[in-house]
Amino acid sequence: MKILVTGGLGFIGSHTCVELLDNDYEVVIVDNLSNSNIDVLDKIKKITGKQVQFYQEDVCNYMAIDEIFKENKIDAVIHFAGYKAVGESVEKPIMYYENNLVSTLNLCKAMQKYNCKKLVFSSSATVYGSPKELPIKEDFALQTTNPYGTTKLMNEMILEDIYKSDPDFSIIVLRYFNPIGSHSSGLIGENPKGIPNNLMPYIVRVASGELECLNVFGSDYDTKDGTGVRDYIHVVDLANGHIKAIEKTFKDKGIHYYNLGTGNGYSVLEIIKTFEEVNNLKINYKIVERRPGDIAACYADPAKALEELNWEAKLGIEEMCRDSYNYILNSNKE
Ligand code: UFG
Repeated sequence: MKILVTGGLGFIGSHTCVELLDNDYEVVIVDNLSNSNIDVLDKIKKITGKQVQFYQEDVCNYMAIDEIFKENKIDAVIHFAGYKAVGESVEKPIMYYENNLVSTLNLCKAMQKYNCKKLVFSSSATVYGSPKELPIKEDFALQTTNPYGTTKLMNEMILEDIYKSDPDFSIIVLRYFNPIGSHSSGLIGENPKGIPNNLMPYIVRVASGELECLNVFGSDYDTKDGTGVRDYIHVVDLANGHIKAIEKTFKDKGIHYYNLGTGNGYSVLEIIKTFEEVNNLKINYKIVERRPGDIAACYADPAKALEELNWEAKLGIEEMCRDSYNYILNSNKE
């Protein structure tokens, strides 16, 4: 089976390519390298010992995508490519809407033309906005608070309409919680360009001495210790969720939505403490004001994914903290 992976050199994309190859799928990657590095391609090959076909193209360029489908018999698609920084999306909404929506439309247009109707779409828990209740179930009300989140929700709506118009499609929408960690080889991981926005990439840079001090955004939330609570999930578990989703697209048609999380919420202070313990170091941090737009707590009810995809997260917060740091130590050595 040949799987087209858009954004396959990114953080979640690269880990998913490794799991696909390990499960004997053939992989075709399309990535424009806007937020990824070409070195990742060799790392994927090195980890798996398998070949991968690569196109350096933008999914927003329809002709390029059409050509890829013409040259390859693609059986299914996993669509990761997209912009993902919440703050940047508030500053540059046109860029976000254009990129994140045109890419999906192009892909679906080519899929329909070439009769490839199995799609796994990379969505986010951000589509739940500020949930009224916890844990979050897939049928909760959807609402967004920034253009990035709205592009995810709009993409979900587009896919729903495509399925309604063409029930031959089999579409799985995966709503990720907070992916961290890295592959056990330490060869691929998350290394954002510039100053990181997210918690774990920031912590690892404080640990490695590249940044001085972590700002903890708020200690007066209504949570166990006052700091924000999230459902962190190991990226390798998340990648395996995509394998289960691809398997399901081959079994039945329809459009289905799944939370990919562990179901456990950890506070910022708990993450810092666990990171310090497993890596045997100290993280310099200070409590500052809340970050605008943040919610107090967010964690999944992952029961539907277990029941219908036979998927559940296996790795714990210790492995996530250890592997996140291991990747940075390893890449700083190179
Ligand atoms: N935090 C800090 N200091 C930092 C960064 C984050 O204290 O320097 C705190 C935040 O306030 C929050 C927690 O750490 O309580 C997690 O923050 P992240 O930025 O790592 O993640 P978010 O939950 O805010 O955002 C993530 C993804 C988004 C997605 C969202 C909802 O980055 O893409 O989850 O699913 F939209």
